[in-house]
Amino acid sequence: MKDVRTGAQSQWQRKRVFIRTYGCQMNIYDSDRMADVLRPLGYALSDSPEQADLVVLNTCHIRERASEKVYSELGRLRDLKAERHLEGSDLTIAVAGCVAQAEGEEIVRRQPAVDIVVGPQAYHRLPELLARAARKSDERRFDGRRRPGAGVLDTEFPAESKFDHLPAPSDADVRAGSAFLAIQEGCDKFCTFCVVPYTRGAEYSRPAAEVLQEARALVAAGAVELTLLGQNVNAYHGEAAPGSIGGSTWGLARLIREIAEIDGLVRIRYTTSHPRDMDDDLITAHRDVPQLMPYLHLPVQSGSDRILEAMNRGHGRDHYRRLVDRLRAVSPDLALSSDFIVGFPGESDADFDDTMRLVDEIGFASAYTFKYSRRPGTPGAALGDQLDENLKTARLAALQSLLGTQQRDFNLSKVGTVVPVLFAEAGRKPGQVLGKSPWLQSVYVEGDADMIGSIVNVRLLAAYALSLAGEVVAGESPSRFEVAA
Ligand code: SAH
Ligand code: SF4
Ligand code: F3S
Repeated sequence: MKDVRTGAQSQWQRKRVFIRTYGCQMNIYDSDRMADVLRPLGYALSDSPEQADLVVLNTCHIRERASEKVYSELGRLRDLKAERHLEGSDLTIAVAGCVAQAEGEEIVRRQPAVDIVVGPQAYHRLPELLARAARKSDERRFDGRRRPGAGVLDTEFPAESKFDHLPAPSDADVRAGSAFLAIQEGCDKFCTFCVVPYTRGAEYSRPAAEVLQEARALVAAGAVELTLLGQNVNAYHGEAAPGSIGGSTWGLARLIREIAEIDGLVRIRYTTSHPRDMDDDLITAHRDVPQLMPYLHLPVQSGSDRILEAMNRGHGRDHYRRLVDRLRAVSPDLALSSDFIVGFPGESDADFDDTMRLVDEIGFASAYTFKYSRRPGTPGAALGDQLDENLKTARLAALQSLLGTQQRDFNLSKVGTVVPVLFAEAGRKPGQVLGKSPWLQSVYVEGDADMIGSIVNVRLLAAYALSLAGEVVAGESPSRFEVAA
């Protein structure tokens, strides 16, 4: 709405932002924080680009397909922007996330309609970037044919952490009783296939006091489950909370023990962990801390020592097996999940067999599997002996088949038991609600939408490849993991 005297846009005018998130949970967290930064500027969230004044693509660079998706989406947004121009209005297009960091100016070159390119460490500077983009696009009012964006760029890794400048999380950051909390960001491990150390920068742990404050705020806003996030979350070594005893930094286990003291918090999870950083304290936390869920995502990538070395993972297959043995010794009901890459340069049939054997020996409750994707700038991209795509496809299928069987067997092993389920959303069919078991299995029951956000005991009745069906068990208070049937 215009001010009648000055013609200026009034401050409180409702603007709308549409944020599309690709990639990992860190990006989901960051998208929420961008919404928190934009809210004081008058931006409400929109469900579609068509209804938005600003579109943010929070992008992922991890595999080639992920980053190419961004450019096709940008093509559609360019058309939308051109339509707006015809109507005498505008659409601001921002590219955030890991593609923004990795490709920077190249993005504006490939798609000149882009107004803002902002790397993952610069989200707190969005208000300033928006103002600069608005000024620039005023200056460059289109010439009738070309409709460029403003092309404002911020991909610096600032000396101080972005977390120091982001606003406190809002109630909107808690969804159905669950919230993410980034405690660590970046990575110094330089696995030879991976772009993360380049797109997210050096490893950084947030001070424990800051994490605890955010955890309390999220619980006060209704979270019963917190998932602590980091690219290397178990490498966490944040500055100790002032006045605490036991050293100047806290590891992840200490942080978890302190977070577990927060009244009203029922479930704690953490992801993603590296096998090199599972220390004794963290392993025993899986025995001692009842709120810590019996599920661990611990990517191994390959079962071949030769390939693990070429990947620069810093451990071999036996290290992983021993680690799993120790974890299972303290927490017998712990379920494991992993990431696997097939077709890393030089992976032989024997190497791939080693991966299949490791999977067979360990038994995973779930897993993510990927074909190796050659990423520019990573050491892996320069290696000889890049594998044929068809061979990668065949290995992926074999691995997925084995892991799929393990997942179904794991789900089947829970049938007949009663487990607490945190309900998150309406199910696919009317009258169904869908939630997560302690082992992150999808469980659906007949029930009402008012169950969403609460933890309810459910008897599991049937298992499928990707989900379980159950029924609500009345009159029992939620147990830790499992109630004898
Ligand atoms: N920090 C985590 C992984 C983050 S990336 C860890 O160290 O485990 C998530 C997953 O994407 C990785 O575990 C890996 O399996 C996969 N990935 C990363 N780079 C890849 C590439 N170039 N090709 C295929 N998969 C890749
Ligand atoms: Fe990437 Fe390896 Fe770092 Fe994980 S540990 S983010 S796979 S470099
Ligand atoms: Fe993708 Fe960046 Fe996450 S590359 S997986 S969005 S850290």
